[in-house]
Order: sequence, then structure tokens, then C-alpha cells
Amino acid sequence: MSDLDLVQEILELKRQRRAVILAHNYQRDEVQDLADFTGDSLELSRTASVIDCDVIVFCGVNFMAESAAILSPAKTVVLPEAGACCPMADMIQVSTPRKMKDFFPGYDTQPVLVFPIGFTLNDMKARHPGVPVVSYVNTTADVKAASDICCTSANVIKVVESLPGDEVICVPDRNLAMWAQRNTKKKIIAWDGFCHVHDRVKKEDAIRAKKEHPGALLMAHPECRMEVLEIADHVTSTSGMLKFAKNSPAGEFIVGTEVGLMHRLRKENPEKVFHPLRKDMVCPNMKKTTLKSVYTALSELRTVVQVPEDIRLRAKEALDRMLAL
Ligand code: 13P
Ligand code: SF4
Repeated sequence: MSDLDLVQEILELKRQRRAVILAHNYQRDEVQDLADFTGDSLELSRTASVIDCDVIVFCGVNFMAESAAILSPAKTVVLPEAGACCPMADMIQVSTPRKMKDFFPGYDTQPVLVFPIGFTLNDMKARHPGVPVVSYVNTTADVKAASDICCTSANVIKVVESLPGDEVICVPDRNLAMWAQRNTKKKIIAWDGFCHVHDRVKKEDAIRAKKEHPGALLMAHPECRMEVLEIADHVTSTSGMLKFAKNSPAGEFIVGTEVGLMHRLRKENPEKVFHPLRKDMVCPNMKKTTLKSVYTALSELRTVVQVPEDIRLRAKEALDRMLAL
């Protein structure tokens, strides 16, 4: 079947099933073009919680589809590629310790406030009794269920500031936590997880890109290292970058996030120029979803994402607190 035929079939199946297709900003270009809504993690969670439909086809990675299932239990949520995961989300467990060096042979540590390799979220909570836990949406449902509130890259500072007390535990992304630390007086107690796509970018990459494109503004995602964020012109989520590029008088930008965002940036700003900060900022899990897998997901309704009810209810409280902000 040609791509055009596939798109027609998908649209017809979508109508029959009363389905909507949500796609993260890192999805393949053709999947983004097919989607009813494309956005960052916060926008997609909000959309999933309010949209009127029977089926949500979530083109993203598993924690995103899980969040949609947590927020909308009456809808069928399908993840077209069951194996599309987020390695960072798997770096923290509620009660089973993991050693990141076993998963990532090139694992390279950075100094953070707390360094809990091989620990669990429960260990961390026991060490800091009463300190509220903020979990990035890039976590499994049971980690969300064990947290006080969720955050995304778009609202982490607001979420941290909303909590009582002078200390906050932030899991699992050390870079996002350090970014929050830069922007709050509270003490952030960080987990040592990271996104391999963003964490691979070093200061030298940012300096080289700025030299190659002297007129361009550098936008960086807070999942990047602090050494990169420090020299960025703007630090924000993927949708924050879309807004910044649109509203800025500048005509040229270096994009410090997964390359999938380039599609919308170029489509929405045809007169502006965008350069990737590094061409290898590619998330293999985000690229697993294809038109073919969306078609199969809709025709066979798979893979349905379900969360055990006790975990769902507690995870929903953490997500709802974030959405209420
Ligand atoms: P945002 O789109 O929320 O900025 O998230 C980036 C990300 O890495 C999601 O996996
Ligand atoms: Fe996870 Fe990073 Fe991929 Fe986002 S880009 S899904 S944080 S591995």
C-alpha cells in the first residue's frame, strides 16, 4: 500500500472508531502530519484528559500513552509500537534497585546534589522524610503513584515553587533537576537519571554550533547538561521552542533538542532557518512509530495500554495536581 493509500485507510478507520491521533513533537514527519494534535508532553496530557473520543492512538513512547490511560480511563488508549519506551523513565524504580552502569556501558556521571545509583525512590524518600516528590512525566505509572506531583519540562519551576517547605525531591532527570535548582531558592534533591539524546551534547558542541552559525539563537531543552544550558539563548520545552521561534525577531536558530522538532519549526516558520545542535540528537524510540504501525494500531486496536486501578488512581492524583496548576 502506498503512503497515500495508508493515510486514507487510517482516516477511515479513525472515523469508524471515533479515534484521535496524538503525536509528540519528536515523531516522524509523516506521523506528525497525520496527527490530530501534535505537542509537547504537557499539551498532550492536557489534550488526552479533555478530548471527546473513544480511542486515543498515542504516537510517542510508553509513559505518554500510560499518562493518557491514567487520565482517561473510559477511553481505549493504544500505543502503536509496544516497544517504544523512554530509557530515562526506566532509570528509576519505586522499590527495585537498578545500576545504571549495567544498562548504559558508557554511563558518565556528573556531580549532582544526591547521587543515588542503585537506590530506589523509596530509599530516597526514607532518607528525606516529608520532602515532597516531583516526578517528571517521563516516569512509569508506579513512580508517578509514589510521587506528590508530576511536572514536565514546560512547568518544572512552577511545580517546584508550588510545593510547601524548602526542599523538593526531583526525579528522574538530573539535568532538569539542576535547571530547576538554577531557578528556585528551594533545595533540589536530584536523582541521577538522564536522557541519552540530550545528555550527549557537550559544551564544545554548543560552542561549535554557535561559531558555525554566528547569527543564530541557541534554544536548548532542559534535558541538556547545565554546561549547554548556561550558554543557550533560551531554555524551554519543545513547544516552548515553537513559540519562541515564532515570536522572536531572529531569523536563524540552533535547535538543542531531538531533531523531530525541526519538522514543525520549519513548517510553521518557512521564512526562518533552523540548524540541529547535533545531527545525532535522534531518539530511536520516538522513531519506531510509522504510518504502517498507526494503521495496524487502529485496525487491530493494539497495543492497548492499561494501568492497574490502584496505581492509576494514585498516579492520577499526581498528574491532576500538575494539570491544576
Ligand atoms: P517535551 O516535549 O515535554 O519538552 O519533552 C521532551 C521529551 O523528551 C519527551 O520525551
Ligand atoms: Fe526519553 Fe529522551 Fe527519548 Fe524523550 S528524547 S523519550 S526523554 S529518551
